[in-house]
Amino acid sequence: MGKGCVISLVIFSIFIAIAGTLVVLGFTVYKPQEPKIHVDNINLDNMKFAFNVFQIKFDFNVTLTADVTVQNPNKIGFKISDTSATLNYRGVKVGEAPIPSQEIAPKETKKFNVTLTVMTAALLSHPMIFNDVTKNQLPLTVVLDIPGQVEILGIIKVNVHVQTYCDILIDILQKRLASQRCKSTANI
Ligand SMILES: *[C@@H]1O[C@H](CO)[C@@H](O)[C@H](O)[C@H]1NC(C)=O
Ligand SMILES: *[C@@H]1O[C@H](CO)[C@@H](O)[C@H](O)[C@H]1NC(C)=O
Repeated sequence: MGKGCVISLVIFSIFIAIAGTLVVLGFTVYKPQEPKIHVDNINLDNMKFAFNVFQIKFDFNVTLTADVTVQNPNKIGFKISDTSATLNYRGVKVGEAPIPSQEIAPKETKKFNVTLTVMTAALLSHPMIFNDVTKNQLPLTVVLDIPGQVEILGIIKVNVHVQTYCDILIDILQKRLASQRCKSTANI
């Protein structure tokens, strides 16, 4: 083996060792953990309910504001892609709001609000609405479907997908939430 060849081999070995160390570091020290997404509170605003006895018809308006907390436990930034929050009534979409793309710095906890206005026509055309209104319990689900990425050492991108569901029950007469139950699942 020539001298040049040996030097090339040594340089190549050093390069491989450094690359290997970086990859191991990337997956240990910088091993991505799932960002925590939490809905602290859901407020009801401009809630109005009217019942026309003669036409046997209701009218109903409400706007929900969810206080969302995103906690990034990683030593690296978490980038949320453009997405949206949806409001469902018994599997039917009755509201939608955009969630703009944003970056959550390493170890940062960020708060933002999502405001969803019920599309009255979609809600009132559902066959179960009469039943729920007469029981004074309106079940709605707020869905936050949040895709994002964490970037290890600026080279390895890891996709993260967090889904949060909040099942709520609205007490129409009292104009308040009767219950709120949220759960999150994450794929990394
Ligand atoms: C709900 O909102 C619509 C549009 O703003 C309005 O026309 C309607 O009167 C409202 N309903 C009630 C019960 O206030
Ligand atoms: C979210 O809304 C609440 C009241 O509805 C307000 O007090 C709070 O400052 C808002 N948070 C953000 C991050 O805008």
